[in-house]
Amino acid sequence: MSVQLHDKTFDLFLTSSEIQARISEVCEYLNRDYADKRPVFIAILNGSFMFAADVMRRFNDACEIQFVRLASYVGTSSTGEVQTILGLSADLKGRHVVILEDIIDSGETMVSFLPLLAQKEVASCQICSFLVKPDALKHPIDVAYRCFDIPNEFVVGYGLDYDGLGRNLPDVYHLH
Ligand code: IMP
Ligand code: MG
Repeated sequence: MSVQLHDKTFDLFLTSSEIQARISEVCEYLNRDYADKRPVFIAILNGSFMFAADVMRRFNDACEIQFVRLASYVGTSSTGEVQTILGLSADLKGRHVVILEDIIDSGETMVSFLPLLAQKEVASCQICSFLVKPDALKHPIDVAYRCFDIPNEFVVGYGLDYDGLGRNLPDVYHLH
């Protein structure tokens, strides 16, 4: 099965049922590790909205969620360094934070974001990512909870987009 988005064709890579089953497995670890910690999930927009919803509905104890958007400059700066955070509230001091990401690619986003969280004096901080591209990583980032490690190729669906399209697909597709 394949889908056409803009000028490109994408082939089915992970089915919705595979995705849902794996998220359930990973959430068993989150439930075990955070049962009495009242974690604050921090979902990185836009890509993580579906993953965040699926994780949160499987978490069985008290928890909270915040949505943040990381704005980076592109063009003049090729580093992709994150310059701003929109939406992170000040009251994270002493809290156990779980960052929810759609995908860790180069790791630039997380490398920029983690120090900003540290400034908030959180009690602990772990990353939970739907996808990780280990071969694309440029920084040694510890992704404690991860659903799928994938090859270094472009994927869409389940929140991930190609130039704005594809986020609504329940399955994940990779480039044809
Ligand atoms: P990083 O900062 O290089 O780790 O990139 C992270 C961000 O790049 C992700 O949150 C996505 O928004 C985007 N991204 C990286 N790889 C892909 C992909 O294969 N498909 C869609 N978006 C991607
Ligand atoms: Mg993203």
